[in-house]
Amino acid sequence: MEKLTVLGKSEIKINPVGLGTNAVGGHNIYPNLDEEEGKNLVRTALEQGINFLDTAYIYGPERSEELTGQVVREHGRREEAVIATKGAHQFKGEDVVFNNSPDFLKQAVDQSLQRLGTDYIDLYYIHFPDEDTPKDEAVGALKELKDAGKIRSIGVSNFSLEQLKEANKDGYVDVIQSEYNLFKREAEEDLLPYARDNNITFVPYFPLASGLLTGKYDETTTFDKDDLRAKSPLFQGETYHKNLEKVDKLKSIAQKKEVKVPHLVLAWYLEQPAINAIIPGAKNKEQVKDNLHTLEVNLTDEDISEIDHIFK
Ligand SMILES: NC(=O)c1ccc[n+]([C@@H]2O[C@H](COP(=O)([O-])OP(=O)(O)OC[C@H]3O[C@@H](n4cnc5c(N)ncnc54)[C@H](OP(=O)(O)O)[C@@H]3O)[C@@H](O)[C@H]2O)c1
Repeated sequence: MEKLTVLGKSEIKINPVGLGTNAVGGHNIYPNLDEEEGKNLVRTALEQGINFLDTAYIYGPERSEELTGQVVREHGRREEAVIATKGAHQFKGEDVVFNNSPDFLKQAVDQSLQRLGTDYIDLYYIHFPDEDTPKDEAVGALKELKDAGKIRSIGVSNFSLEQLKEANKDGYVDVIQSEYNLFKREAEEDLLPYARDNNITFVPYFPLASGLLTGKYDETTTFDKDDLRAKSPLFQGETYHKNLEKVDKLKSIAQKKEVKVPHLVLAWYLEQPAINAIIPGAKNKEQVKDNLHTLEVNLTDEDISEIDHIFK
């Protein structure tokens, strides 16, 4: 691993290119997933020096954590993996609610530890905010878990700026994870500057806009009706048409630089304030390996503003 970076204020070192594991046993997210293929994604990542693994209780539910944990154990060197997981979803009969109460989070961390088969979690995120719990109290519970050695760093996800400020009242937040990609750039207004000024790593999710920013789709592409892209607004009608035109412009920049579109896009995020880690998802091990080429892309200031301009 050549180029390591650090998560927020922690001392946890990661390869900036991580792996999102919602397609590892994430049966409630993608149809017809093969679990062995999912484990191969994690195996390939660890073999290739990708150590930052992003999972969550709700992927599966439970299976992504279980399968990821199995591969980390099989790998044998626990300290080489940086496991990030998330909790907040609570099943109440058929309904799912978010719960950030200290008691719930403490129980959720213990259950994640069991599913992962490990005695510490490197980064634990509150996956979604609830409506009731003061965010500094929720993070206070995670701080206690950190002091107890059960987690090594603290994250929040899908928090607004106000919620992040409240969560970080005592300065304990290391990472914020939010949706951010070239099509969805609201975070530039508020979360990114706050994260930069407060030494918080911003991890963008859906960095490839679920594959649209890889440049491999066209007007004829269709998706299974259970695939999230079949319903995503980015993939519908005239919007989809316009989005493909923007991606075409990226293709000509990529061609000139002799790099691939996904790597150009992922490298662009790493130039944004507070973003020093990315967690693209993958469906096969070639994609896992392929995304490591991101680290070979050198963007000039001109490239950065040209890409910025296409998606403004
Ligand atoms: N905190 C949250 O609430 C939250 C929400 C969503 C996601 N996440 C996290 O963010 C991670 C990333 O999001 P995501 O996986 O949903 O979407 P994504 O990273 O935007 O897109 C990943 C998809 O792009 C395609 N792809 C990836 N690398 C490629 C390559 N090199 N060449 C060609 N195609 C490639 C694959 O899809 P195909 O092969 O099918 O085209 C892959 O499944 C998730 O795994 C999860 O860990 C977090």
